[in-house]
Amino acid sequence: MTLQVNPVTGLDGVIAAETALSHVDGEKGELIIGGASVGDIAFAEDFEALAARLWVLADGSQRDAGDARRLIGMARVRAFERLSAVLPATDGLPMVDAFRAALAAMAPDDDLPDEILLTGAMGVVAAALVRSRNGERLIAPDPELGHAADILRMLRGMQAHESEVAGLNAYLVTVSDHGMNASTFAGRVVASTGASPFMAITAAYCALSGPLHGGAPEPVLNMLDAIGSADNIAPWIDAALSRGERLMGFGHRIYRVRDPRADVLKTAFERLEGAVRDMNLAAQVEAYARKALEAHKPDRKLDTNVEFYTAILLDALKIPRQAFTPIFAAARVVGWTAHALEQQYKGRLLRPASLYVGPMPAKR
Ligand code: CMC
Repeated sequence: MTLQVNPVTGLDGVIAAETALSHVDGEKGELIIGGASVGDIAFAEDFEALAARLWVLADGSQRDAGDARRLIGMARVRAFERLSAVLPATDGLPMVDAFRAALAAMAPDDDLPDEILLTGAMGVVAAALVRSRNGERLIAPDPELGHAADILRMLRGMQAHESEVAGLNAYLVTVSDHGMNASTFAGRVVASTGASPFMAITAAYCALSGPLHGGAPEPVLNMLDAIGSADNIAPWIDAALSRGERLMGFGHRIYRVRDPRADVLKTAFERLEGAVRDMNLAAQVEAYARKALEAHKPDRKLDTNVEFYTAILLDALKIPRQAFTPIFAAARVVGWTAHALEQQYKGRLLRPASLYVGPMPAKR
């Protein structure tokens, strides 16, 4: 067997699976999810309908949008009933770790497929962790509501404005899947061993949590707060880059142009009624950061990625920054579960090779 050795160690360009779920064109700045451009579905399709389409593409099963809405609503109710058993596992942990512990403690359901229960559960757990940490009463789900509307209601204890529901739905759709990203790959590796979707999705979440992947939006908001005013933009960014730090919300392994999700989420923010964050400052930070990164790395196109506007949108939706990664997971769970199903339906055990560079046994 001829070994193909990748000169860089990040598996760039290595094809690890065939997928019908999503496609990222990094040169053109295009993202296709379930056969549609992300910009065409973010404001036109609800999250549950997209979930149904992805699961159908994954394993050819018959599911429609109505079934998905009804079953995900039911899954929220089931997950809420289990919170008293699940939440003690999260005591004393930071939010991102608490979400992982809750996920690990959540048991499968006899009546609901794992992908449905996991999708319903993630929104419920994220909202419950936010409220319990604020010392607030937990709000039971309303299975009649759409997923985005119910997540906001469970977070706040009251119905959200319809522009906010549309904003969160656009977010959930936009980040639902994204090719062979690190967390999806982690989930597919676990699924390829025949392990259950619960195992695969726990692994995927752990991979998501790092700042180079889904852990970036909280630091984006911290950066905007630390910059604070227009006159501090250049000194702050220049100092961060000269210390060798990475600017959160910029750069991508695949995109060589602006991440198309950034514009969708920017539009979602602009459509919110009464949005509070000063977009003027964020826009100036973005413009300066792009210029500074071009000067900093002239050979490496570093542009705005999804996390910059994720931070601004989720903050405007009054979601606390510590919950940004769990909310990302509550959206990406649909992609992860679809990839796990697809891997088990069509794939083989994922078992790559390594290049041995260690010591050899002494010659006898
Ligand atoms: N700020 C400053 N320098 C950067 C940045 C950045 N945001 N991104 C990359 N670089 C530099 C990097 O330090 C490296 O320099 P050197 O060659 O001197 O070591 C060079 O550019 C090439 O970087 P790389 O590590 O080869 O890039 P990558 O493809 O491995 O990393 C990335 C992609 C997203 C991890 C990286 O751009 C980054 O760390 N960005 C900041 C964190 C962030 O916004 N993460 C969210 C990613 S989008 C969500 C998702 O889809 O998962």
